Amino acid sequence: MLQKMDEIFKDFTEKLQTLDKQADVLSLKASVLGKNGSLAEILKSLRDATVEQRKEIGPKSNAIKQDIEKLVFNKLQEIEINEVNEKLSKNKIDFSLVDSVLDKGLQAAGLHPVSQIQREIEDIFISMGFDVLDGPHIEDEFHNFEALNIPDTHPARDMQDTFWFKDMKHLLRTHTSTIQVRGMESRKPPFKFVGPGKVFRCERTDATHEMCFHQLEGMMVGKNITVGNLIYFMKTLLKEIFKKDMEVRLRPGYFPFVEPGFELDIRWKKPGKGESKHSGWLELLPCGMVHPNVLRAGGIDPEEYNGFAFGLGLDRLVMVKYMIEDIRHLHSGDLRFNKQFKAY
Ligand code: PHE
Repeated sequence: MLQKMDEIFKDFTEKLQTLDKQADVLSLKASVLGKNGSLAEILKSLRDATVEQRKEIGPKSNAIKQDIEKLVFNKLQEIEINEVNEKLSKNKIDFSLVDSVLDKGLQAAGLHPVSQIQREIEDIFISMGFDVLDGPHIEDEFHNFEALNIPDTHPARDMQDTFWFKDMKHLLRTHTSTIQVRGMESRKPPFKFVGPGKVFRCERTDATHEMCFHQLEGMMVGKNITVGNLIYFMKTLLKEIFKKDMEVRLRPGYFPFVEPGFELDIRWKKPGKGESKHSGWLELLPCGMVHPNVLRAGGIDPEEYNGFAFGLGLDRLVMVKYMIEDIRHLHSGDLRFNKQFKAY
């Protein structure tokens, strides 16, 4: 009987070597260790064995059982590793594919110019210690108007034709100044942040107007902030964007949430054209010192703190930078337009 058990084990190990599927390994195991397996058959005949024989056969069959379990475990693992390796070698990333795709005339993807300029400006402000905040597109009256010193009856509400929701309480934000309010609500002065995003106005579209466009709001609040601080940050920003010192001027501008309010213009010359005809002042950036009512609405004591705010039109900036004559190109989704801007 002992000899028979050795034969069973030998037979098992030989067969095991030839297998390469987990299911086959498991059925081989069952053919030996299973209820009606070959080892079980032998153990059944133990009934007829002498006490001496049983003493030998019992431990021997246990040892064989354990060896088989171990061999099966190792074999299953080996198969799994082989399978994974095989899959990996089949799915290997084929870098030559990129070239062949480009050969066929397809374009590598790139960021939209508005996204590019937004990221560029965010990086400039981050390097100057500003945070970057986000805000919802769907706003309430308080954050879009009231907290910004534009009460119900104020004519300035008409300056920004608004997409209202049916409840006449919610709206699509008409400017990113809503982020000023949310920023003041969520932090204690001193602070400085920018907030980029889409804004919406119910307007007829033409070469310089879109119903949806992009702004980047900025706000700095602290003690004894001056118009000089505002000009410094704006000039630094413009120098980074245009890669040279820009000449700027401030003109008075009216926005209910700043006092005094300004329009910041840059001295601009269309490259390649004569100085006289195509140069002049270009209106780029509304800004001003934050109105005390706005600070108060944001939970800040205007006796103790003050600050400046500005709103940069990102689409406008892209148009100036790349000399695009019609804002509607930006949202056209026309690949002939989009693919002129280098991939990032
Ligand atoms: N929110 C203003 C607009 O959309 C721009 C602005 C921002 C003006 C901050 C002054 C200060 O027209």
